[in-house]
Amino acid sequence: MSAAEKLAGKFIVIEGLEGAGKSTAISYIAKWLALQNMPAEQITYTREPGGTELAERMRDIVKMEVQGEDLEDKAELLLMYAARVQLVEHIIKPAQNNQHIVVGDRHNWSSLAYQGGGRGIDLQLIEDIKQVSLGEFNADFTLFLDIDPELGLSRARGRGELDRIERLAIDFFERTRQVFLQLTDAEQKAVKIDASQTPEIVEKAIFKQLDNWLASL
Ligand SMILES: Nc1ncnc2c1ncn2[C@@H]1O[C@H](COP(=O)(O)OP(=O)(O)O)[C@@H](O)[C@H]1O
Ligand SMILES: [Mg+2]
Repeated sequence: MSAAEKLAGKFIVIEGLEGAGKSTAISYIAKWLALQNMPAEQITYTREPGGTELAERMRDIVKMEVQGEDLEDKAELLLMYAARVQLVEHIIKPAQNNQHIVVGDRHNWSSLAYQGGGRGIDLQLIEDIKQVSLGEFNADFTLFLDIDPELGLSRARGRGELDRIERLAIDFFERTRQVFLQLTDAEQKAVKIDASQTPEIVEKAIFKQLDNWLASL
């Protein structure tokens, strides 16, 4: 089987804190996929939350600031899963059925890390909501870009003003990072990349991990 045939129908996810370099990593993955002769029209890119019309509206609600009404942590969590269900059912699964490879900028781990680690919602409760929403649907391979939150935020700041979530305290992001690290340790189909390195080194590390994963398929 050719590399492109092996990759067809797979779902790769990039996870990491703000400013870790996820968007940058997607461009490296696109480059790697081209090297595997994966046709560009057979690649679907997603970002979460969002990616369908309704999911994008849910994303807007999560980012919205309303005078006198806080978004409750559990409402935020459920909106994330509502958006994810829309994306998985309307975009990701149909793309996989059409032999696309799907490259996701964030997926399920972000809910465990941010709403669980960051906000402090019980991780088992989030796992239960995941089961109800998505069942056994999971990424085939996850690249976790690990970065010190201070460095990530300083990179993100260079990009413009911080939004409501990005302004939260550094210890929120440190707790978030710890959950990402635990998830990566516990999952065989996931790897950690030291995202504090130069873009050239990060790119090389991503290529190497993708080569190893492809060899295992
Ligand atoms: N390895 C790196 N070293 C230094 N700066 C980086 C690196 N990777 C990305 N950047 C820069 O940091 C900023 C955030 O990167 P980005 O890919 O948008 O992160 P994310 O999508 O995870 O928030 C961008 O300005 C990007 O050019
Ligand atoms: Mg990004």
